[in-house]
Amino acid sequence: MTKLSSINGNFKNQHILSLDQFTTQDIETILKTTKKMKDIAAKAIPTKLLEGNTVALIFYEPSSRTFASFSAAIKKLGGETLEILDPTHFSSAAKGETLEDTIRVFEAYSDAIILRHPQKGKAQSAAEASRNTPIINAGDGIGEHPTQALLDLATIYEKHGKLDNLTGVITGDLLNGRTVHSLIKALSLYKNNTLYLLSPTELNLQREDYNTYQQKGIKLIEIQYEKQIPQNAHFWYWTRVQKERFTDTTQYEKLKTKFTLTKDLLKKTAAPYTILMHPLPRVGEIEPAVDEDPRAVYLKNQIKNGLYVRMALLALVLGKKM
Ligand code: CP
Repeated sequence: MTKLSSINGNFKNQHILSLDQFTTQDIETILKTTKKMKDIAAKAIPTKLLEGNTVALIFYEPSSRTFASFSAAIKKLGGETLEILDPTHFSSAAKGETLEDTIRVFEAYSDAIILRHPQKGKAQSAAEASRNTPIINAGDGIGEHPTQALLDLATIYEKHGKLDNLTGVITGDLLNGRTVHSLIKALSLYKNNTLYLLSPTELNLQREDYNTYQQKGIKLIEIQYEKQIPQNAHFWYWTRVQKERFTDTTQYEKLKTKFTLTKDLLKKTAAPYTILMHPLPRVGEIEPAVDEDPRAVYLKNQIKNGLYVRMALLALVLGKKM
C-alpha cells in the first residue's frame, strides 16, 4: 500500500483519505475557508467557483448527510454532479467490475470522486487506482470518515473557539465507528486534549488504535459507567452501535442502547457549556426530549457545518482561489 501523502498546505489535487494527512495548519485553512463558505451560504451569494467542474459521488453504502451535503455543496458552488448510489446494483460493479476499474472509468468523466465503501482501506485502493483525479473518502467501513471529523472540529471550534485544552466524552461503538476514529486522530493533533471513552467493553477501541492515539499525546480515559462522565466536558459525542458491522444480531440487540443520552443524565452531568454532538443517524441512543435542549447541536449546527466544510474542502481540492 502506498504511503498516505501529507497535505502540508497544498490541498490542490490531493486525495483526502485520513486525518493522518493533516497538520493543525491544514485544519486552520479548512476552518477559515469554511467561515467564508458559511457567509456565502448565509447571504445566498451566487458563486460560480466550481463552474465547469463535475464531481462524481459513488456510494456503495447508504448515506443521508454525507451524500446530500456533498451534492448540495457542489451545486451551491456552481458545479455539476455525477451521482451513483448503490453501485453494486446500478453500475457495472453488478457485472463484476472491480472498484479500481470503476474509479478509472469515473475519473474520465469527473474532476474529483467522493467515495463511500463498506471496506476499510478501499478509499486508499481507489486513490492508488486513480491516475489524476482526487479521491475524497466519504467513509471506508470501520476505517475513517475524515470529512465528518472536519465538520465535528468546526462545530467544536464554533462553540469553544479552540481545539486544544478540551475535555470531551465519546460514547457508543468505538470499535466500529469510523467517525470516532477520525475525530480522535484530529483532536490528537492539538495539545492537552482529554477524551473520556464510554463504550460497552465489547466495543472498546482496538488496543492497537488506543496505543497509537495515546502515543500522539492525547489523553484517553476509558470508563464503563455514565456516572464516571466528568462534569466539565466541552462536548459529548454520542454515537450509535453500528448494526451493519455485526454478524451476531443477538449481540447487537444486547449492546445497542447500553448507553442512552437522556434529559436526566444531562441534568446530572453536563455543564452549561457542554455541546451535545452525534454524527447521526441515531437509532434510539438519544432520547428525543434531549433535542429541545439548547446544548444539542446534532440536528442543528453540526449538520449545517457538514455543508460548509464540504464546500470548503471541494474548493481547496479543486484549486480554486477565494
Ligand atoms: N454522519 C454520516 O456519515 O451520516 P450518513 O451516513 O447519513 O452520511
